[in-house]
Amino acid sequence: MRILAFETSCDETAAAVVEKRKGEEFVRVFSDVVASSSDMHVTTGGIVPEVAAREQVRSIIPVIEEALRESRITNRELGAIAVTVGPGLIGSLLVGVETAKTLALVWDKPLIPVNHLIAHLYANWVGGSEKLKVKNEKLQLKTQNYPTFPAIGMVVSGGHTDIVLMKSHTEIEWLGGTRDDAAGECFDKCARILGLPYPGGPAVAEVAAKFKIKNSKLKIKLPRPLIDQDTLDLSFSGLKTALARMRNEPFDNAQGKQKIMSNELTSAMAYEVQEAITDVLVVKVMLAVRRFKPKSVLLGGGVAANERLREKLEARVMNHKSSIKLHISPPKLCTDNAVSIGAWAAFHPTPASILSVRPNPSLAVV
Ligand code: KG4
Ligand code: ZN
Repeated sequence: MRILAFETSCDETAAAVVEKRKGEEFVRVFSDVVASSSDMHVTTGGIVPEVAAREQVRSIIPVIEEALRESRITNRELGAIAVTVGPGLIGSLLVGVETAKTLALVWDKPLIPVNHLIAHLYANWVGGSEKLKVKNEKLQLKTQNYPTFPAIGMVVSGGHTDIVLMKSHTEIEWLGGTRDDAAGECFDKCARILGLPYPGGPAVAEVAAKFKIKNSKLKIKLPRPLIDQDTLDLSFSGLKTALARMRNEPFDNAQGKQKIMSNELTSAMAYEVQEAITDVLVVKVMLAVRRFKPKSVLLGGGVAANERLREKLEARVMNHKSSIKLHISPPKLCTDNAVSIGAWAAFHPTPASILSVRPNPSLAVV
């Protein structure tokens, strides 16, 4: 089955053509096009929903055209259309959903509504297209070694942080999640406190990489909320507040010395923000592993692109006594994209009645 998938839940407008063949446990990618309005949100330090929605309207048709052109598949050859219905910003979601409904009606195709959050984990079932090039960046796609069940999945995105138990493609249980801010939101808010641009995750990671902990006298310590508690709940709002308080403390008032100090201080703080967030995420995944003894661990969502998180989780999973496979997709498929949306649809090809499909901004992961 060949699927044309759309993703418009936030500030990315994405379309992709994917295919799942009978007997294959993965999805092949024919095209993957993403346009982002994130540059327009840099000055405001966060997404302005109205601006994001307007950019969705501007980008959706060219992005779909490019995805079809790149795939060399005509609309006649498509088996279905898939679209993110939530969660997300209502204005942005509406653009994708209404476009998908219109095309499904005009081209007479089944329409598959997709939950954006669980779809993030399906980036781990993508493979088989070694030729795929996206803006000169070659996607390192695998051709074997896909997740097996039971699996523990962690979705770490800008608006959500959830841990789920996947017993199969259809039996998915929510185990825990954040009580307040999401991991990505924490990166974004901490970046703002530190005067770094939006999106905060990559900005914090870049500045953190400049901090030489061994050579520095600065000892910054932020809290790791709920880390020692026997719960799969997470909490990040205290971390952000602690950073805000710390940032306002007068570390060094001496003129001249201030700038040098402040650069080092910023990178020291960014380093500690990244350490604190990733420590908590890794501990909670490993707690779920001990409780549910899965065969695989899956990571998905924008924060899964974080190198430090990938590195720490790899080390912990490798040292675990039973053999567990860790699956984290290439960074390009961690942040919002339509390939993951198409991948979920390919494994759940049940269409909905077209006119009944509506956006749901507050959809939960399961
Ligand atoms: O999944 P995603 O692209 O969009 C949502 O569904 O929210 O996630 C976006 C989030 C943002 O908060 C962004 O700061 C974070 O993912 N992010 C990162 C990295 N790349 C994106 N966080 C940490 N390190 C990164 N390299
Ligand atoms: Zn997302």
